[in-house]
Amino acid sequence: MSTSRVVAIDGPSGSGKSSTSRAVAARLGLAYLDTGAMYRAMTWALLQAKVDVTDAEAVATAAHTVTLASGTDPASPTIYVDGQDVSVPIRGEEVTAAVSPVATVPAVRHLLVARQRDIIAGSDGIVVEGRDIGSVVVPDAAVKIYLVADPGARAVRRAAETGATDASATERSLVRRDQIDSTRATSPLLKATGAVQIDSTHLSLDDVVQAIVDIAHASLEAAR
Ligand code: DC
Repeated sequence: MSTSRVVAIDGPSGSGKSSTSRAVAARLGLAYLDTGAMYRAMTWALLQAKVDVTDAEAVATAAHTVTLASGTDPASPTIYVDGQDVSVPIRGEEVTAAVSPVATVPAVRHLLVARQRDIIAGSDGIVVEGRDIGSVVVPDAAVKIYLVADPGARAVRRAAETGATDASATERSLVRRDQIDSTRATSPLLKATGAVQIDSTHLSLDDVVQAIVDIAHASLEAAR
Protein backbone atom coordinates (compact mmCIF):
# COMPACT_ATOMS: atom_id res chain seq x y z
CA MET A 1 0.00 0.00 0.00
CA SER A 2 1.22 3.51 -0.70
CA THR A 3 1.70 5.82 2.26
CA SER A 4 -0.73 8.26 0.57
CA ARG A 5 -3.48 6.52 2.58
CA VAL A 6 -1.80 6.66 5.97
CA VAL A 7 -2.88 9.11 8.67
CA ALA A 8 -0.30 9.33 11.49
CA ILE A 9 -1.52 10.73 14.82
CA ASP A 10 1.10 11.30 17.53
CA GLY A 11 0.95 12.98 20.90
CA PRO A 12 1.23 12.47 24.66
CA SER A 13 -1.12 10.36 26.82
CA GLY A 14 -4.54 11.85 27.41
CA SER A 15 -4.44 14.21 24.43
CA GLY A 16 -7.50 12.37 23.09
CA LYS A 17 -5.50 10.37 20.53
CA SER A 18 -7.36 7.07 20.82
CA SER A 19 -10.94 8.35 20.62
CA THR A 20 -9.90 10.79 17.91
CA SER A 21 -7.99 8.23 15.85
CA ARG A 22 -10.78 5.64 15.98
CA ALA A 23 -13.40 8.21 14.98
CA VAL A 24 -11.23 9.55 12.13
CA ALA A 25 -10.67 6.00 10.84
CA ALA A 26 -14.42 5.25 10.97
CA ARG A 27 -15.26 8.52 9.19
CA LEU A 28 -12.68 7.91 6.44
CA GLY A 29 -13.40 4.18 6.08
CA LEU A 30 -9.83 3.30 7.06
CA ALA A 31 -8.33 0.67 9.37
CA TYR A 32 -6.96 1.71 12.78
CA LEU A 33 -3.79 0.72 14.64
CA ASP A 34 -3.08 1.60 18.29
CA THR A 35 0.68 1.22 18.63
CA GLY A 36 0.55 2.13 22.34
CA ALA A 37 -1.50 -1.05 22.85
CA MET A 38 1.38 -3.01 21.28
CA TYR A 39 3.92 -1.54 23.74
CA ARG A 40 1.45 -2.23 26.55
CA ALA A 41 0.87 -5.84 25.39
CA MET A 42 4.63 -6.43 25.19
CA THR A 43 4.96 -5.07 28.74
CA TRP A 44 2.11 -7.29 29.98
CA ALA A 45 3.79 -10.35 28.45
CA LEU A 46 7.14 -9.49 30.08
CA LEU A 47 5.50 -8.96 33.48
CA GLN A 48 3.71 -12.33 33.12
CA ALA A 49 7.05 -13.96 32.36
CA LYS A 50 8.51 -12.31 35.52
CA VAL A 51 11.09 -10.39 33.48
CA ASP A 52 12.63 -7.45 35.37
CA VAL A 53 11.39 -4.59 33.17
CA THR A 54 14.13 -2.28 34.43
CA ASP A 55 16.78 -4.68 33.04
CA ALA A 56 17.08 -3.57 29.39
CA GLU A 57 19.12 -6.61 28.40
CA ALA A 58 16.61 -9.08 29.89
CA VAL A 59 13.75 -7.16 28.23
CA ALA A 60 15.50 -7.22 24.85
CA THR A 61 16.09 -10.99 25.05
CA ALA A 62 12.59 -11.88 26.24
CA ALA A 63 10.85 -9.55 23.76
CA HIS A 64 11.83 -11.83 20.87
CA THR A 65 9.75 -14.67 22.32
CA VAL A 66 6.45 -12.70 22.44
CA THR A 67 3.90 -13.00 19.61
CA LEU A 68 1.49 -10.08 19.27
CA ALA A 69 -1.57 -9.82 17.03
CA SER A 70 -3.46 -6.54 16.50
CA GLY A 71 -6.98 -6.32 15.05
CA THR A 72 -7.45 -3.10 13.08
CA ASP A 73 -11.23 -2.57 12.94
CA PRO A 74 -11.83 0.93 14.41
CA ALA A 75 -15.22 -0.25 15.75
CA SER A 76 -13.57 -2.98 17.86
CA PRO A 77 -9.77 -2.94 17.89
CA THR A 78 -8.22 -6.03 19.50
CA ILE A 79 -4.83 -7.04 20.85
CA TYR A 80 -3.64 -10.58 21.55
CA VAL A 81 -0.48 -12.00 23.15
CA ASP A 82 0.23 -15.58 22.12
CA GLY A 83 -3.46 -16.02 21.25
CA GLN A 84 -4.81 -14.49 24.49
CA ASP A 85 -7.01 -11.36 24.41
CA VAL A 86 -5.20 -8.82 26.65
CA SER A 87 -7.20 -5.69 25.84
CA VAL A 88 -8.39 -5.32 29.45
CA PRO A 89 -5.23 -6.12 31.48
CA ILE A 90 -3.01 -3.87 29.34
CA ARG A 91 -4.95 -0.85 30.70
CA GLY A 92 -4.23 -1.80 34.34
CA GLU A 93 -1.96 0.14 36.67
CA GLU A 94 0.82 -2.46 36.71
CA VAL A 95 1.28 -2.25 32.93
CA THR A 96 0.84 1.54 32.87
CA ALA A 97 3.64 1.94 35.43
CA ALA A 98 6.03 -0.40 33.56
CA VAL A 99 5.39 0.48 29.90
CA SER A 100 7.56 3.59 29.56
CA PRO A 101 10.83 1.85 30.55
CA VAL A 102 9.99 -1.08 28.24
CA ALA A 103 9.33 1.36 25.38
CA THR A 104 12.81 2.90 25.83
CA VAL A 105 14.55 -0.41 24.95
CA PRO A 106 15.79 -0.15 21.33
CA ALA A 107 15.31 -3.91 20.62
CA VAL A 108 11.65 -3.63 21.62
CA ARG A 109 11.14 -0.59 19.40
CA HIS A 110 12.89 -2.32 16.52
CA LEU A 111 10.63 -5.38 16.79
CA LEU A 112 7.40 -3.41 17.17
CA VAL A 113 8.17 -0.85 14.45
CA ALA A 114 8.82 -3.71 11.99
CA ARG A 115 5.50 -5.30 13.00
CA GLN A 116 3.69 -1.95 12.63
CA ARG A 117 5.15 -1.41 9.15
CA ASP A 118 3.95 -4.90 8.11
CA ILE A 119 0.42 -4.14 9.31
CA ILE A 120 0.44 -0.75 7.54
CA ALA A 121 1.76 -2.29 4.32
CA GLY A 122 -0.94 -4.97 4.44
CA SER A 123 -3.76 -2.45 4.88
CA ASP A 124 -5.73 -0.54 2.29
CA GLY A 125 -5.39 2.73 4.19
CA ILE A 126 -4.99 3.16 7.94
CA VAL A 127 -4.97 5.62 10.83
CA VAL A 128 -2.01 4.88 13.11
CA GLU A 129 -1.67 6.42 16.56
CA GLY A 130 1.41 6.54 18.77
CA ARG A 131 4.42 8.67 19.65
CA ASP A 132 6.82 8.13 16.72
CA ILE A 133 4.49 7.34 13.82
CA GLY A 134 5.09 10.53 11.80
CA SER A 135 8.76 10.74 12.77
CA VAL A 136 9.97 7.11 12.50
CA VAL A 137 7.36 4.51 11.54
CA VAL A 138 5.85 6.25 8.46
CA PRO A 139 7.70 9.56 7.94
CA ASP A 140 6.11 9.94 4.49
CA ALA A 141 2.50 9.46 5.69
CA ALA A 142 0.04 11.60 3.71
CA VAL A 143 -1.29 13.18 6.88
CA LYS A 144 0.65 13.79 10.09
CA ILE A 145 -1.04 15.18 13.16
CA TYR A 146 0.56 16.12 16.49
CA LEU A 147 -2.21 16.22 19.06
CA VAL A 148 -1.51 18.06 22.33
CA ALA A 149 -3.48 19.34 25.35
CA ASP A 150 -2.66 20.95 28.70
CA PRO A 151 -1.60 18.40 31.36
CA GLY A 152 -4.61 19.30 33.56
CA ALA A 153 -7.10 18.64 30.74
CA ARG A 154 -5.31 15.39 29.83
CA ALA A 155 -5.40 14.16 33.45
CA VAL A 156 -9.14 14.85 33.74
CA ARG A 157 -9.79 12.87 30.52
CA ARG A 158 -7.52 9.99 31.51
CA ALA A 159 -9.08 9.79 35.00
CA ALA A 160 -12.56 9.67 33.41
CA GLU A 161 -11.39 6.78 31.19
CA THR A 162 -9.80 4.76 33.99
CA GLY A 163 -12.27 5.65 36.77
CA ALA A 164 -9.45 7.14 38.92
CA THR A 165 -10.77 9.56 41.55
CA ASP A 166 -7.59 11.56 42.12
CA ALA A 167 -6.99 13.64 38.96
CA SER A 168 -3.88 15.27 40.45
CA ALA A 169 -2.23 11.84 40.96
CA THR A 170 -3.18 10.98 37.37
CA GLU A 171 -1.60 14.27 36.22
CA ARG A 172 1.65 13.50 38.08
CA SER A 173 1.76 10.03 36.49
CA LEU A 174 1.11 11.50 33.00
CA VAL A 175 3.80 14.13 33.39
CA ARG A 176 6.27 11.47 34.59
CA ARG A 177 5.53 9.29 31.54
CA ASP A 178 5.75 12.32 29.19
CA GLN A 179 9.18 13.04 30.66
CA ILE A 180 10.42 9.47 29.97
CA ASP A 181 8.79 9.32 26.52
CA SER A 182 10.16 12.73 25.45
CA THR A 183 13.72 12.31 26.67
CA ARG A 184 14.51 8.70 25.66
CA ALA A 185 17.37 8.30 23.20
CA THR A 186 15.47 6.13 20.68
CA SER A 187 12.46 7.72 18.92
CA PRO A 188 11.46 10.30 21.55
CA LEU A 189 7.98 11.82 21.46
CA LEU A 190 8.24 14.90 19.27
CA LYS A 191 6.35 16.83 16.62
CA ALA A 192 7.41 15.24 13.32
CA THR A 193 8.58 17.37 10.40
CA GLY A 194 5.52 18.36 8.41
CA ALA A 195 3.04 17.48 11.17
CA VAL A 196 0.05 19.74 11.86
CA GLN A 197 -0.23 20.52 15.57
CA ILE A 198 -3.74 20.55 17.06
CA ASP A 199 -4.32 21.63 20.67
CA SER A 200 -7.41 19.81 21.94
CA THR A 201 -7.53 21.53 25.38
CA HIS A 202 -10.57 23.65 24.49
CA LEU A 203 -11.96 21.58 21.61
CA SER A 204 -14.63 18.87 21.65
CA LEU A 205 -13.86 15.41 20.29
CA ASP A 206 -16.11 16.16 17.29
CA ASP A 207 -14.21 19.40 16.54
CA VAL A 208 -10.84 17.63 16.57
CA VAL A 209 -12.13 14.75 14.43
CA GLN A 210 -13.63 17.18 11.92
CA ALA A 211 -10.39 19.17 11.71
CA ILE A 212 -8.38 16.01 10.94
CA VAL A 213 -10.97 14.68 8.47
CA ASP A 214 -10.79 18.02 6.61
CA ILE A 215 -6.98 17.88 6.49
CA ALA A 216 -7.11 14.24 5.35
CA HIS A 217 -9.64 14.93 2.61
CA ALA A 218 -7.44 17.70 1.25
CA SER A 219 -4.33 15.47 1.24
CA LEU A 220 -6.04 12.37 -0.08
CA GLU A 221 -7.60 14.52 -2.83
CA ALA A 222 -4.21 16.04 -3.68
CA ALA A 223 -2.68 12.52 -3.88
CA ARG A 224 -5.21 11.35 -6.51
O1 DC B 1 -0.62 5.68 24.18
P1 DC B 1 -0.38 4.78 25.39
O2 DC B 1 -0.47 5.52 26.71
O3 DC B 1 -1.21 3.55 25.38
O4 DC B 1 1.14 4.31 25.23
C1 DC B 1 1.72 3.44 26.16
C2 DC B 1 3.23 3.67 26.24
O5 DC B 1 3.85 3.24 25.03
C3 DC B 1 3.67 5.12 26.48
O6 DC B 1 4.51 5.17 27.62
C4 DC B 1 4.47 5.50 25.28
C5 DC B 1 4.77 4.21 24.56
N1 DC B 1 4.62 4.33 23.12
C6 DC B 1 5.74 4.55 22.38
O7 DC B 1 6.82 4.69 22.95
N2 DC B 1 5.67 4.61 21.02
C7 DC B 1 4.49 4.48 20.40
N3 DC B 1 4.45 4.55 19.07
C8 DC B 1 3.31 4.28 21.16
C9 DC B 1 3.40 4.22 22.52
